[in-house]
Amino acid sequence: MLRKAVANLKKNHVIGLPTETVYGLAGNAYSSKSVKNIYKLKKRPKYNPLIIHYFDKEALKKDVILNENFFKLYKKFCPGPITFILRKKNESKINPLALAKLKTVAIRFPHHKIIRLILKKISFPLAMPSANISSSISPVCAKDVADEFQQKIKFILDGGKSFVGIESTVVDLTNKPRILRPGIIGPESINKVLKVNVRYIKKTSIIKSPGMLKKHYSPGIPIKLNRIRGGKNDAYITFGKKYKKKYNHFNLSKKSNLNEAASNLYKIMRIIKKKKFKKINVVKIPKRGIGIAINDRLERAARKK
Ligand code: TXA
Ligand code: MG
Repeated sequence: MLRKAVANLKKNHVIGLPTETVYGLAGNAYSSKSVKNIYKLKKRPKYNPLIIHYFDKEALKKDVILNENFFKLYKKFCPGPITFILRKKNESKINPLALAKLKTVAIRFPHHKIIRLILKKISFPLAMPSANISSSISPVCAKDVADEFQQKIKFILDGGKSFVGIESTVVDLTNKPRILRPGIIGPESINKVLKVNVRYIKKTSIIKSPGMLKKHYSPGIPIKLNRIRGGKNDAYITFGKKYKKKYNHFNLSKKSNLNEAASNLYKIMRIIKKKKFKKINVVKIPKRGIGIAINDRLERAARKK
């Protein structure tokens, strides 16, 4: 299976691959054919750049300019669920379409055993956005990817359920470090390493990233947040042990564990969608640790545009 994945990637085919955060739609980042195909399959707007995945920092030196903050965070968290925005080198071979023609690059070193074995066997990095149609729910298992793309892709490698369950933390390191997308690695852990006060600034006017689309991660059903009451035929996403088991209640974590809640979030949104509920109410989820990332995804999913 591993060999088949590698053979497909070498032929510039686009395939589904597991990572520890969510499943990705992977292709050769140096090939315009692969990159074009990723945008087409995902129906992704051309102005939204892709994350480029590498085996280690050696593999990346020829494409991006590294800096001190990068080295510190790399040492502490990589491989792992964190993405860095860095400046591109002029001689970089990354296909410009993958970067939406920007002069910066989002790079990541995924931790999942399978993707590491694959990255080790190829001589190019992988452009790999989450394997979902643009603005819908990210996939956390091979079946989700199959549901999303059916016959449109040749191959999906099954690596089990993605352990983290939501996308990597995105940190911009091109200037004063700042978080563009919250994830399981939070600002406190980053601050400890960089000894600066990195924050996640949610105001859209400050978010320069073209890809920080407001509406995202959406199951395509109206979502109301911080609500316990609603219609009796609505679906309810709950958290904590006080919620009883009911046919329309979906508990993110009975133990009130936020990591468990993150890993269940997209899975539960998909189940609710499949069961054809018309509306989702979500109870208040604590805004600490990975809870910040959960709330960010829920707020984007709940947006009308
Ligand atoms: O966990 C993850 O990061 C997953 C797995 C598959 O690795 N990938 C993922 O990719 O979430 P994607 O394409 O769904 O999200 C990438 C985010 C987008 O919001 C995009 O706009 C942003 O990273 N991004 C990419 N390049 C950027 C750049 N040069 N500057 C700022 N943001 C960038
Ligand atoms: Mg995505």
